[in-house]
Amino acid sequence: MHMSPTETGKAGTTVVPTGGALGAEIRNADLRTIDDRYFAVILGAWHDHLLLLFREQELSDEELIAFSKRFGELDWAPVQESGRRFVEGHPEIYVVSNVVENGVAIGSLGAGEATWHTDMSYMEVPPKASMLYALEAPPSGGDTYFNNMYAAYESLPADLKRRIEGLSLKHDGTYNSGGYLRQGVTAVDDPMTSPGVYHPLVCTHPETRRRAIYLGRRRNAYIGGLSLAESESLLEELWLYAARPELAWGHKWRPGDLVLWDNRCTMHRRDSFDAASRRVMHRTQIRDEVAPRS
Ligand code: OGA
Ligand code: MN
Repeated sequence: MHMSPTETGKAGTTVVPTGGALGAEIRNADLRTIDDRYFAVILGAWHDHLLLLFREQELSDEELIAFSKRFGELDWAPVQESGRRFVEGHPEIYVVSNVVENGVAIGSLGAGEATWHTDMSYMEVPPKASMLYALEAPPSGGDTYFNNMYAAYESLPADLKRRIEGLSLKHDGTYNSGGYLRQGVTAVDDPMTSPGVYHPLVCTHPETRRRAIYLGRRRNAYIGGLSLAESESLLEELWLYAARPELAWGHKWRPGDLVLWDNRCTMHRRDSFDAASRRVMHRTQIRDEVAPRS
């Protein structure tokens, strides 16, 4: 990955790669005023780097939705454990927060760790992208890590690549990434029978045409056609490759940070943080035009 900043269509705006396994920061961009030419630069940088960071943004919910819609139609926020799913009047905005108001959590995932996952992969057509915008960040903890699933695929030994070719993985619809049961869902803790949706285990990205392992979540995952023991051991092996620290890059949040990632070729996880501090994030999820394909 080359480190030199790239000039973009707008004066003073640059694309600066993180130098890690994925990601680039777009410097000097105001996401409230993005013209078509500059948007094309952002889109290209996103495909090249899998994740983009924009700092010091000042977006209202309407402006966050407007920028998100440049990438495609938005999905509504998923059902979350607290029963409250979105910002009043904006069903597209999923709230990730530990803040409790009048005894009710205003968002999802609490203050605990969120384990490695891809967003909403239990849908037939999962969102291609998610955008997370930090309104309030704790002084420490709550960092989010992202990994490069193209690189994970490319790192597999040839025999393992051959073994997973053509296989499908069931993505669990029971739990969210904080380990909470989704509302209205009954827990079935047998991976073979729990509710979920099958996708190819190796997917080709529709835009970049690169191949990536598509794992979703570990819990209740099941590789179709295998015995449970075979499925578990193959998944353990794949997760060892996918979760290696050298494939990941971590972000420490400041208020005003916006991170856009590609759910088709990355996963993410979050560190826990002090439950007494406040963390408030607004997320949008951008619908894909096609279901995951091998
Ligand atoms: C998400 C998510 C982690 C975080 O918004 O999809 O997993 O950092 N968030 O809060
Ligand atoms: Mn997530």
